[in-house]
Amino acid sequence: MRKFFPVEDLARDSRFSKITIADRMADQRTALNVNVDADGPSKRTNNMRLTPSRRDASDGARGLMHGIFVGEIQALEGAGRTCWDFETGTEAPFALKLDMARQCWDEARHVEISVKLSDWMGSEIGQYAENTVLFEAACSSDPVLRLAGVNRALEGLAIDVFTTMKEFGDLAGDQYLEFCEDWMLADEVTHVKMGSDWLRKITENDPERRKKALEFQNVVDKLFSYGGTRSDSQESPIGLARRFRELAGFTDDEVEVIAEVSMQALNERKVAVGQIREAKRLADQSAHK
Ligand SMILES: [Fe+2]
Ligand SMILES: [Fe+2]
Repeated sequence: MRKFFPVEDLARDSRFSKITIADRMADQRTALNVNVDADGPSKRTNNMRLTPSRRDASDGARGLMHGIFVGEIQALEGAGRTCWDFETGTEAPFALKLDMARQCWDEARHVEISVKLSDWMGSEIGQYAENTVLFEAACSSDPVLRLAGVNRALEGLAIDVFTTMKEFGDLAGDQYLEFCEDWMLADEVTHVKMGSDWLRKITENDPERRKKALEFQNVVDKLFSYGGTRSDSQESPIGLARRFRELAGFTDDEVEVIAEVSMQALNERKVAVGQIREAKRLADQSAHK
């Protein structure tokens, strides 16, 4: 079997369409774009958190669930590749591979749960497109970088997303959604913890490699802070799950860095949106003269 599988060759049937993150965020049905007026232009509020009270809550929650579903497939593919791509003992310890095998088992279960939840929520496979950044982060030639980028950055984001969706289920009185998210959240905390533990263990005497891995994690974190989607602010659709991140092995300082990067992305997006709105207002004004 071939090692280091390219993203273009991932097995997908005709229901799946691949797009970029920017295109995914431009999908009008998404609840993750902070440009969108969640309650209609006339009732724009500063609360953009994805809750059932949002006017676009149904489509938004369905789109997010589909995003979780394709993310679960890629997490399964990435962890599976890490079991296979590296030589046991020399390139990756056996115990690390055992953790990755356990993760495959969990992610396969999450794929099934996500398909069933999507059906329960009234959508189907392929209703939204897929971006494959998660698997791309799992293509690094260093297993430590994979664990930093996938397990710590992306599955760290999964902790934030599942926490928000669990609260969504709770507020909506949907116990199936709430319990499923809670169970998946518990697994994701374990996966992030695996990433934190292996990163520290393998790079214990190799500060240069640790630095590189943390830099890679920061790049992925920044990429997924795109447009201020996730932050402590209610203006972000997804919250930052500080307590669960702590349980997953993030230090207080590390959580603060993510909080700052996220807030910075949100503020940059607000400035950009403000400029677009102002330009539109001026254009409308001159059209009416
Ligand atoms: Fe998962
Ligand atoms: Fe996971």
